[in-house]
Amino acid sequence: MVFEHTSVMPKEVHEYQNLKPGDICVDCTLGGSGHAQATIKAILPDGMLIGIDQDMDAIANAKKVLQPFEKNVKLVHSNFSNLPEILQSNGIKGVNSILLDLGFSFNQLVNGKRGFSFNKNEPLDMRMDIRTSLTARQIVNTYQEKDLVNIFFKFGEERFSRKITRAIIKNRIEKPIETSKALAQIIVDATPAKQAFKQKIHPATRVFQALRIEVNQELAQLETFMKNLPSLLVKGGRVCIISFHSLEDRIVKHSLRKFENGCTCPREFPQCMCGFVPQLQSISKKPFIPTQTEIDANPMARSSKLRVAQKL
Ligand SMILES: C[S@@+](CC[C@H](N)C(=O)[O-])C[C@H]1O[C@@H](n2cnc3c(N)ncnc32)[C@H](O)[C@@H]1O
Repeated sequence: MVFEHTSVMPKEVHEYQNLKPGDICVDCTLGGSGHAQATIKAILPDGMLIGIDQDMDAIANAKKVLQPFEKNVKLVHSNFSNLPEILQSNGIKGVNSILLDLGFSFNQLVNGKRGFSFNKNEPLDMRMDIRTSLTARQIVNTYQEKDLVNIFFKFGEERFSRKITRAIIKNRIEKPIETSKALAQIIVDATPAKQAFKQKIHPATRVFQALRIEVNQELAQLETFMKNLPSLLVKGGRVCIISFHSLEDRIVKHSLRKFENGCTCPREFPQCMCGFVPQLQSISKKPFIPTQTEIDANPMARSSKLRVAQKL
């Protein structure tokens, strides 16, 4: 099966990647390979695309979809936090373009069979990389009350974190919570009816997001990636990062700012004495957001933000 892909902000990404034939590029989050196909067409005939995904299904799909360009593609089943090692082992010192399109793919949600969707009755797994060990089932059935509350509140911004956690604990004492549907029902029952009615999203949306972030350690992986970013780009090389919630965007924004203007001197110093050298420059102060037409066609794009920076 070849995945459907619903690439977010394809025109904007293409414009800001600023690619030319012969470039070496990395797509850190292949997913359905939508962005990857556009990237590769822009760097032919002799460019190289390194395509990474931590989900083996995305790699298998990319093998099929990118087969016509196989001479120009190298696929790597890994976490993007390992990018420095991946480039090193391929003898690459720096690349012209890096793309991250964070979060999960349409395919993982719809065909993943790993409990990403509260609308499906699937095992509570949520691992994007099935070689890792922590699952959503383990978290829901074994984490202490305070840790569950914390995860739901921090990663899901769920205002009924306590109520939902209490309901989970009560249920799991009777029998382990095994499926996405069972968990979704517990969350629906624990959410005050009036509030559930008022919310525009399903009452389980935030808790499912929080669990996915915890299972895949999404924020920690992004932080690790951001630490090494400038050293992975050649001069003039660009990074494009699409994030889908405020916690991700905050990490991206602050990391870029640190490389752009990380001078630690007191404000009253007439000139910089800490020796800070800017390494990146953002293409725009504010992130790019999708057009209303794109959101209407692809509601998954609604919360996306694109930040772009260039190596100095
Ligand atoms: C939103 S989808 C990408 C969609 C893709 N850009 C397209 O056009 O079809 C995100 C993908 O990134 C992968 N992913 C998320 N975090 C990752 C990480 N830390 N390392 C590697 N892959 C990751 C997921 O497995 C998923 O396939």
